[in-house]
Amino acid sequence: MRASVTAAAALALSGLASAANITEWKSRSIYQVMIDRFALTDGSTTEECVVHQFCGGTWKGLMNKLDYIQDMGFTAIQISPVVKNIEEHTSVGDAYHGYWSQDNYALNEHFGTEQDFEDLVAEVHKRDMLLMLDVVVNNMAQAFDNVVPPKLDYSKFNPFNDEKYFHPYCNVTDWEDPENYQNCWFYPYGVALADLNTESDAVSDELNSWVKGLVANYSIDGIRIDAAKHVNDEFLPKFVEASGVFALGEVLTGLTQDMCRYQTLGLLPGMPNYLEYYPLLEAFNGGTFENVTRIRDEAATGCNDTLALGSFIENHDMPRFASRTEDLALAKNAMTYILLTDGIPTVYQGQEQHFKGNSTPFNREPLWSSGYNKSAPLYVLTSTLNKLRNNAIKLSSEYISTPAETLHTDVNHLCLRKGPDGTQIVFCVTNKSSSGDSYEMTVGGFQPNQNVVEVLSCKTSTANGVGTLTMYMGKGEPKVYVPAAALKDTGICGTTTADGPVSGAAAVRGTGRALLAALVVGWGIMALA
Ligand SMILES: *[C@@H]1O[C@H](CO)[C@@H](O)[C@H](O)[C@H]1NC(C)=O
Ligand SMILES: *[C@@H]1O[C@H](CO)[C@@H](O)[C@H](O)[C@H]1NC(C)=O
Ligand SMILES: *[C@@H]1O[C@H](CO)[C@@H](O)[C@H](O)[C@H]1NC(C)=O
Ligand SMILES: *[C@@H]1O[C@H](CO)[C@@H](O)[C@H](O)[C@H]1NC(C)=O
Ligand SMILES: *[C@@H]1O[C@H](CO)[C@@H](O)[C@H](O)[C@H]1NC(C)=O
Ligand SMILES: *[C@@H]1O[C@H](CO)[C@@H](O)[C@H](O)[C@H]1NC(C)=O
Ligand SMILES: *[C@@H]1O[C@H](CO)[C@@H](O)[C@H](O)[C@H]1NC(C)=O
Repeated sequence: MRASVTAAAALALSGLASAANITEWKSRSIYQVMIDRFALTDGSTTEECVVHQFCGGTWKGLMNKLDYIQDMGFTAIQISPVVKNIEEHTSVGDAYHGYWSQDNYALNEHFGTEQDFEDLVAEVHKRDMLLMLDVVVNNMAQAFDNVVPPKLDYSKFNPFNDEKYFHPYCNVTDWEDPENYQNCWFYPYGVALADLNTESDAVSDELNSWVKGLVANYSIDGIRIDAAKHVNDEFLPKFVEASGVFALGEVLTGLTQDMCRYQTLGLLPGMPNYLEYYPLLEAFNGGTFENVTRIRDEAATGCNDTLALGSFIENHDMPRFASRTEDLALAKNAMTYILLTDGIPTVYQGQEQHFKGNSTPFNREPLWSSGYNKSAPLYVLTSTLNKLRNNAIKLSSEYISTPAETLHTDVNHLCLRKGPDGTQIVFCVTNKSSSGDSYEMTVGGFQPNQNVVEVLSCKTSTANGVGTLTMYMGKGEPKVYVPAAALKDTGICGTTTADGPVSGAAAVRGTGRALLAALVVGWGIMALA
């Protein structure tokens, strides 16, 4: 034990014994795991999976495969809920995802034993990673025959074993009206999601005491609060405080005023960034980056702390990126943006394997079907960029405390600069796609005559006298530049070559100079310092 008795007592009193605070979380990068779909205990990869049933993933399976996550540079893991769920096979499937709580005080045996869960957390911590746990507070669940109002056996619930702990039944019908979507019941077909009366002291005190125990008993470092928008405002800050850890609360809205109020009113410290999610997705599907920049500017003034939002382009609730476009260059750009923009990067398992499942449950493919391929292009890109970001944070804490500067936006490009002089990262994403043309652009953000490396191609160049450099764009690839000096001892781009106008055609072995010259003539030149 490192801490003295007095210090330990003080920490215990503050309820933050081993907990990571908001600053610590901002420096992390999160990999989101759905336990049933991540890894089988024996690590095998041939098991078939029927998507609406249990497929066999376990805590032990995850523990045995932490290298796969850590080698991608992630420094935190978010896992699906751990408490005992309903066992029935319902008309909308089984509770493999963990969101259908029945007993808050028992662990879900499908995922392993209590010892397995403890071993997982210990191993995560041993690797200096943090664990974020998904928790459900809006409702308990019970299989239901679709006859309304639902006739539930409340005695099955632990601890909320009486009808008095729940809102009277009504079906959520109005997604614009908080009164309706906070007090009525979700999903009234196949499963009744009995809506907890979190306004009552009895319910809120119990949930607060539960989360405090859960965090303490299993050394949890942070929580994701499922359906946070669907419980009353007053409940949230007390619950977060009781947990003693950082929280990302799920608030599904693309409207700045609806999202940011959770921070400005002090209801939640962080939320998954649904504000940027929609315009970002649009930018890669026929839209424009101008809308991404507009929402970034709105959030910068509307929210208290955009640096505490979780950046994502995929999660377990939304159709995967590749379900809309399978273009790999677009997926690389989306991943690059998520990992390097402001906030806490959050990557959903399978995104790095370019999975293309559509709506739930098809977006929950078992990861083992990929063979955990560490050579997959998005895996390799994620690994490089997470390591780059981790290094930037190690070199200067300013990286996570200062919002990025927008260097350039047009319909096809967004270029940002993040971090202080000397360790800054300048990156440009584009929606030109794999069939994109070859052209030159200039980008600023460097010091005069600074030597820089583009880390996705390991090409070197030198900024000019005013700190701008030429980017050789092509095939819709993203560009990520960092001062060469900042890469020292990182293992990133151990060998480099000089950057220059190399097109896809010219890169083909044996391609003659004449062809290269012919291509150069066709390049448009765009200045955007
Ligand atoms: C967070 O914890 C670190 C130590 O891990 C400490 O240095 C820092 O001051 C804390 N920040 C806040 C905002 O509490
Ligand atoms: C609940 O409302 C939704 C529309 O929001 C409707 O599709 C569904 O059939 C309703 N279910 C019941 C059981 O009333
Ligand atoms: C945490 O552990 C205590 C002591 O064993 C127990 O009373 C409590 O129910 C546990 N809480 C949870 C959420 O498991
Ligand atoms: C958020 O910002 C608003 C406006 O500046 C301020 O009044 C409020 O105290 C801040 N809330 C928190 C929780 O920091
Ligand atoms: C990229 O942006 C342009 C301009 O808004 C748009 O026309 C094009 O469809 C977008 N490309 C993709 C792949 O979405
Ligand atoms: C950009 O945002 C505006 C306002 O929300 C919207 O009307 C428009 O459809 C968006 N354009 C694209 C191409 O995404
Ligand atoms: C892994 O991915 C790489 C790159 O896409 C591919 O060449 C290789 O065949 C894959 N390996 C396996 C075993 O599927």
